[in-house]
Amino acid sequence: MSLFSPVKSIMQTLKGRQYRKFIKKCIPVVAQINDLEKSLQSLSDDELRAKTAEFMERYQAGTSLEDLLPEAFAVVKNGARRLCGQTIEVCEQPIEWQMVHYDVQLIGGMALHERHIAEMATGEGKTLVSTCPLYLNALSGKNCQLVTVNDYLARRDSHWMGALFEFLGLTVGCIQNSMPSAERREMYSKNITYGTASEFGFDYLRDNGMATSRDDQVQKDHFFCIIDEADSILIDEARTPLIISGPMREDHPLPFNEMKPLVTKLVDAQVRQCNRLAEDAKRTLSSDDSEEDSLDEATAKLYQVKRGMPTHRQFMRMMEDAQIRKRFEKFDLEMNSDYNKERAHKLKEELHYVIDEKNQQADLTELGRGLISPGDPEGFVIPDLATTYVEIDRKKSLSDEEKRTERQQAEVEFQVKSERIHTISQLLRAYALYEKDKEYVVQGGKVMIVDENTGRLMPGRRWSNGLHQAVESKEGVQIEKETKTYATITIQNYFRMYDKLAGMTGTAETEAGEFHDIYRLGVMVIPTHRECIRKDLNDLMFKGRRQKYNQVLEDLTEANKRGQPVLVGTASVESSEVFSRMLKRANIRHTVLNAKFHEKEAEIVAQAGQQGAVTIATNMAGRGTDIKLGEGVKELGGLLVLGTERHESRRIDRQLRGRCARQGDPGSSRFYVSLEDDLMRLFANQGALSKMLEKSFGDDEMLEHGTLDWSIQNAQKKVEQQNYSIRKRLLQYDDVLNRQREIVYSIRNDVLLEDDPGKILMELVEEEVEERFASIPEAEFKANKLSDMPELESLIASWANVTFPLNLMAGDFVGLGEEGCRNLLNEKIAQAYEGKRRLEDPEQLQGLERYVVVNAVDVHWQDHLTEMEELRRSVGLRGYGQKDPLSEYKSEAFRAFEEMMGSMRSEVCSGMFRAATNLAAFENMLNTLSKSAKSTGPDSAATTGFDKFSAPSSPAPQLNESGPPPVATPVVREAPKVGRNDACPCGSGKKYKKCCGVGAAA
Ligand SMILES: Nc1ncnc2c1ncn2[C@@H]1O[C@H](COP(=O)(O)OP(=O)(O)OP(=O)(O)O)[C@@H](O)[C@H]1O
Ligand SMILES: [Mg+2]
Repeated sequence: MSLFSPVKSIMQTLKGRQYRKFIKKCIPVVAQINDLEKSLQSLSDDELRAKTAEFMERYQAGTSLEDLLPEAFAVVKNGARRLCGQTIEVCEQPIEWQMVHYDVQLIGGMALHERHIAEMATGEGKTLVSTCPLYLNALSGKNCQLVTVNDYLARRDSHWMGALFEFLGLTVGCIQNSMPSAERREMYSKNITYGTASEFGFDYLRDNGMATSRDDQVQKDHFFCIIDEADSILIDEARTPLIISGPMREDHPLPFNEMKPLVTKLVDAQVRQCNRLAEDAKRTLSSDDSEEDSLDEATAKLYQVKRGMPTHRQFMRMMEDAQIRKRFEKFDLEMNSDYNKERAHKLKEELHYVIDEKNQQADLTELGRGLISPGDPEGFVIPDLATTYVEIDRKKSLSDEEKRTERQQAEVEFQVKSERIHTISQLLRAYALYEKDKEYVVQGGKVMIVDENTGRLMPGRRWSNGLHQAVESKEGVQIEKETKTYATITIQNYFRMYDKLAGMTGTAETEAGEFHDIYRLGVMVIPTHRECIRKDLNDLMFKGRRQKYNQVLEDLTEANKRGQPVLVGTASVESSEVFSRMLKRANIRHTVLNAKFHEKEAEIVAQAGQQGAVTIATNMAGRGTDIKLGEGVKELGGLLVLGTERHESRRIDRQLRGRCARQGDPGSSRFYVSLEDDLMRLFANQGALSKMLEKSFGDDEMLEHGTLDWSIQNAQKKVEQQNYSIRKRLLQYDDVLNRQREIVYSIRNDVLLEDDPGKILMELVEEEVEERFASIPEAEFKANKLSDMPELESLIASWANVTFPLNLMAGDFVGLGEEGCRNLLNEKIAQAYEGKRRLEDPEQLQGLERYVVVNAVDVHWQDHLTEMEELRRSVGLRGYGQKDPLSEYKSEAFRAFEEMMGSMRSEVCSGMFRAATNLAAFENMLNTLSKSAKSTGPDSAATTGFDKFSAPSSPAPQLNESGPPPVATPVVREAPKVGRNDACPCGSGKKYKKCCGVGAAA
């Protein structure tokens, strides 16, 4: 057996003590597995297969997976042995099975089972390594998953390893991007499922944030998951959150074009007015013999201009005059004081609308309203719905039915008016605060935001809440539908949900800290099966990029002439193309890969080890595909890997180097660096080293020295750290949202899964009642006459009786105490609701009840997501002050969440008795959700949602990374998932939903 030679040598050379310890622990188990495997060899195939069922029974009877491990691993290894020589079909290609687990592969399997990241070099056969722990954990009967970096590898590995699993009696599935949900569900019902991180993550989001019934959900367990190329997924992809977005559910598109003429009328009037005011002010202020009184008048005019058109040219020019400016600022300050409130108000009322620059608001004045709605001064005033309700209720002459109709009319009027006002106000902002070619540009019929910090365009990004549409209307281009985030999660928080997580990759060690801090995963370096004999040559350093490329070309040409295959690694698609052009000019045949066409590229990469092959690849291209050396290549020195620059992260460079010299093959690698490379320019030690280089470095010279490598690595470490803090910050922000998401999704799921959704509905109503009562002064509950209970009385009259079909008398609540009052109200609501339920078709009732809650949750949660996105952005901007933006964010997020839960519950309360009329809306919702959502995530190929979803489009919106500085606390999931009604794990004795579950930090 090969165990002792490589393991021994590795034991001597390895630095890491914990690796040595782990391997020492594994050695006797490996011996045990091999003994067991020998004894299995005499069994028939069926007898071997029967082991699987036997293990499953033993597991159910209480034997732990750990106890089953040696036998289970032995069965897998023996299964592999029996497959040898068989041809299996993998992605429509026949492959002959010729693998039996090496000892180091068994050790790797143990590391995975113990939730480590197994670092095993490229070509060590990680695909096979994962079979042992997957088989073992699947014995639990739960769905186990293996994450690959792309769809092609998911399919390949599920076919390839599937042969082994199926031989042993397990079922295997694989998720692909275009799969409809029925098929997905089937795949998740298998013992083992392969798929990409995005697919798994989006399925989770759809199951929990969008599915409207239990039958819509596809995933089963989040039990055991192995992530292949773990660094790429848990670190690189984790920078981009998964987002499902789609058009806003616009029942009524806002009437922009209809309101636009009114707004231009307003704007014109105001411009004329401000011109006049500014002109007047200028005349007075620039004349020498003005009286103090008229100077004051003039400044007041400027004050008006500022409120009416903050960017008015003449006003701005006048502000350049120090004296005028001083006078103005003093006046402005005075107007803020209570003492001058009236005058300030009067001055503003002379305008048509008032712009509040700080809050980016625009409000109509009486004058403005009169201008756009001459006959109807109330046309642009939001009606007071609560008062209207009370008034309707008081009309003794009306029947209940008539009252309801009137109430509905009032609601419609309310909605129409508030939408009109919102539209006007957004249009005003578009006209008054957003300047073309400054805040935005118009290109190809689209309004594109200009990043205020960098000046770059941000295609695909939109201002929210109708503002973008208002600007589109102003510019006369097509008004696009508002999009909205339906659901979002980061890769980190998705994977932290699993009971057991493990990973494998060729390169993890340099990122061990991050794996530990974020995922609680340890890294375990597993020795190679055969000793690695790769020659890593020192970096070559050049002054300029041109000289560098020339040298790469020269070295490549030389190898190519000898027939030695060369793999050129570049850091970006762009430099791949640059280098490809150079090769073309030099007449060297080559292929370029940039990780776009996974399957085709895998075929090409597989050929990269043939004589004379030249392949250019970016770092992800062709990962996971074996590069076998062609005939006679060993003698030429194996595959030669040339890196045209150092990547930001050492890990990626190691990954590239690992492409050659697999499984004891020969091979060599070298990196080329120039002082013009981004990495060198930005991060290398600019001091002594570069000075020395500058001086002693002729243009065509080339340097090679160990210290150079060292300084480059230091530069890389710096970048790595910086990137890590960005990711950590992203996560700290998402953690806040994550707790909230857990709560909201658990309500949503409870409603979907609960046989009697009405129970949860009533629970939410009771919570709302409790909240409402909490705001009433204690004294009122102790009072013994109605006149001492004004708040309670108004709660009964203008909330309880309006929201629910109740005709309660506030008098009945006198003297009951807080709890008594609450109980009485709850009881009455429950009675009324029972009455309604009896009248409904019980089949439909459940669906409607689910709808009431799910709809309320979705509407408010999705709004909340948008609000939180904005909050993040604004907190990021505020971050320059003294306050810690993260804690600012946390407390605001807490407040916003409380508010969201409140509106959600209110909606449930007001929706529960109207549900019968909502069936159409319900079906409508199902339709819009399933037709229009689109998902974006780290995979450049965006995934589609349910069946027949629309094509992917814009790139994933990046969360703001320019935010606040990182805070150095590691973020980890502190507790297992807690139900909303469970006791809070913090030990407060309160329910989770009332305690830590609400919002993280407040
Ligand atoms: N025990 C084994 N015996 C013989 N061949 C093996 C064994 N294990 C793996 N191989 C072969 O080694 C090659 C590389 O395997 P695999 O692609 O799984 O490696 P990997 O570690 O995943 O590499 P990468 O880092 O490129 O993904 C495959 O061709 C596979 O058939
Ligand atoms: Mg692999």
